[in-house]
Amino acid sequence: MFNYINIVKLAKGVLTDIGTEELAHMEIVGTLVYKLIEGASIEAIKAADLGSHYADHGRSLYWENAAGVPWVAAYVSATDDPVADLHENLAAEQKARAVYENLLHLTDDPQVKDVLRWLREREVVHYQRFGETLMYVEDFMKQKKAF
Ligand SMILES: [Fe+2]
Repeated sequence: MFNYINIVKLAKGVLTDIGTEELAHMEIVGTLVYKLIEGASIEAIKAADLGSHYADHGRSLYWENAAGVPWVAAYVSATDDPVADLHENLAAEQKARAVYENLLHLTDDPQVKDVLRWLREREVVHYQRFGETLMYVEDFMKQKKAF
C-alpha cells in the first residue's frame, strides 16, 4: 500500500536509476564502436560497409541508427501520464533487448558478444523494474482516496 508521496518517490527513483544507467550504456556502446573502428584500415572500413560513415565522420563516433538516421532528443517522450509513460518505457526496453539480440547475430567477436549480452541483460532488468513500478502505480490508482 502506497501513499502519493511514496509512489512518486519510488517512480522517480526507478526513472533516475535507469536513466543514469542508459547514459552509461551509451558510453559503453560508444567505447565499443570506437575500439572497433580505431586504427581500422580503409579496406576494413569498406569491407564492413562503413564507407558512408567514413565519408562524413572518418573514424569518429556519430550517434545514428543502422539506417544512418541521427539520434535526436525527440526520441525521448513523456505524456505526463505515468501509465502511458511506463508502458512506453516497457516497450523501449523490449526493443532495446531485441536490437541487442540482432547485434549478437551480426558479430562473431567473443568480446563484442560479451558486452552485447551484458547490455541485453540490463534491458531485461530495466523491463522488470518498469513493470514492477507500473504495478505499484496501478495499485495506487485503484486505492480509494480520502481527501
Ligand atoms: Fe534499458
